[in-house]
Amino acid sequence: MAARTTSIALEGAEARLVDVQVQIAGGGQPVFAVVGLADKAVAESRERVRAAFSALGLSMPGNRLIVNLAPADRPKEGSHFDLPIALAILAEMGILPKDIARDYLAFGELGVDASLASTPGVLPAAVAASAAKLGFICPAGCGPEAAWAGGDLAILAPASLIQLINHFKGTQMLTRPVPGEMQAAPQTRDLNQVKGQEGAKRALEIAAAGGHNLLMIGPPGSGKSMLAERLPGLLPPLAADELLDVSMIHSVAGLIERGALTRRRPFRAPHHSASMAAMVGGGPRAKPGEASLAHRGVLFLDELPEFHPQVLDSLRQPLETGDITVARANAHVTYPARFQLVAAMNPCRCGSGGLGANSCRRAPRCVIDYQARLSGPLVDRIDLQIPVPAVTPADLALPAPLEGTQEAAVRVAEARQAQAERGGLNAELKPDRLDHVAEPDAAGQSLLLKAADTHHLTARSYHRVLRVARTIADLEGQEIVKRIHIAEALASRRGLASEKPALA
Ligand SMILES: Nc1ncnc2c1ncn2[C@@H]1O[C@H](COP(=O)(O)OP(=O)(O)OP(=O)(O)O)[C@@H](O)[C@H]1O
Ligand SMILES: [Mg+2]
Repeated sequence: MAARTTSIALEGAEARLVDVQVQIAGGGQPVFAVVGLADKAVAESRERVRAAFSALGLSMPGNRLIVNLAPADRPKEGSHFDLPIALAILAEMGILPKDIARDYLAFGELGVDASLASTPGVLPAAVAASAAKLGFICPAGCGPEAAWAGGDLAILAPASLIQLINHFKGTQMLTRPVPGEMQAAPQTRDLNQVKGQEGAKRALEIAAAGGHNLLMIGPPGSGKSMLAERLPGLLPPLAADELLDVSMIHSVAGLIERGALTRRRPFRAPHHSASMAAMVGGGPRAKPGEASLAHRGVLFLDELPEFHPQVLDSLRQPLETGDITVARANAHVTYPARFQLVAAMNPCRCGSGGLGANSCRRAPRCVIDYQARLSGPLVDRIDLQIPVPAVTPADLALPAPLEGTQEAAVRVAEARQAQAERGGLNAELKPDRLDHVAEPDAAGQSLLLKAADTHHLTARSYHRVLRVARTIADLEGQEIVKRIHIAEALASRRGLASEKPALA
């Protein structure tokens, strides 16, 4: 009977079990074949396994050696199949007992000297092993990351194939690796370093409290990038389930160093030259894109209109559904991507738009052309669109404000607590639930209807105003959404020329 062990294939941020079967048959020409929709890296496993065996002084069987990766119709990518293939061959050759190979899920790349090298995706692999009630074998460098998958998972993290063989032969026992450190949150930049800009700070607090998307529009040097960098400091740390979700994606992208996880929410700020694959994932070597790396955190797009329009429009799907589906050669993969979009831009290409001492001489044409680079449906998904005017010298000369990140973060945490009790962040509430929890009082309702009529609000915008108003009420600890909350929410959508031509 053939020997077998288990490994995984990564599909998005999820690990699917793969049965690795090895059969050595007599007769015919010597063959070493890997079948089962394997990519080039998997096919190259043969050479690495052959070299590793020779480094150990083991001769490969001179017969027909067939490795089957089942199910055969699902694509398999990556070099991590080396270790399971080697393990199953060792079992088929009788060097290790077959039942040992069967009881483990193996994951790791072999060097020609039979050392084991780390590859991305260890955490989802270890979680899959735990769910399948198998033991887990991975390279020593991946041990601290794998150990996060759960206390009852049996983990072996050898540095080389020989260490693994010695462990199973009982001559050199391996100990279970310990989880990597929980990284302390780095010192964040404080909101009290931003002088003036009270309106923008308020919008930042509302965005943090309700998980709303935010667009800041203002002349160069007004502090937009400065404000955006201070948003993560206002957000609460990741909850336990969110931490696992986020870490799985970062593991697949190979971003977890020495198994150190962090509860700090991701803050991703890709450059505006980012390609579609860099933003949403996919490409020849499927990797999660920036939108997925920002899952449960912030995706900051500075100089928004400078991004490629197609790249921006590819964000419309995740902004609505919280995930991204990319087509691959043989399959579709879905990555989680529930991020909060924060964007900054100048009102026109020249910088200042039609207002102030540095106003643009080509306004309003320059403003209209520049802002037209953003598609209506994308802008429609941004709840808060606020102007960030140039900061005055008088403001800059002021002493640092008394209130900073710490005070605002307390209010944000309280508002989020109220939302958690109602069943989720305001920005993510479904319309029917929203009608129920954010129904404004009569005065608020009439203001909203009037504004919807005057500004031709889309159904989505209408709901977004309600969501923001709900958050503003939550920040005040109010049960009922009132006129004043609706008014502030409406006023928070007036940055773009299309909403109100004041900046043009
Ligand atoms: N409100 C402010 N309080 C204190 N310093 C400020 C403020 N606004 C701007 N600055 C100073 O100006 C620098 C530039 O600010 P920032 O990069 O945030 O501007 P910006 O609005 O993003 O400009 P651009 O449109 O050119 O990207 C900051 O590093 C800071 O030193
Ligand atoms: Mg900037």
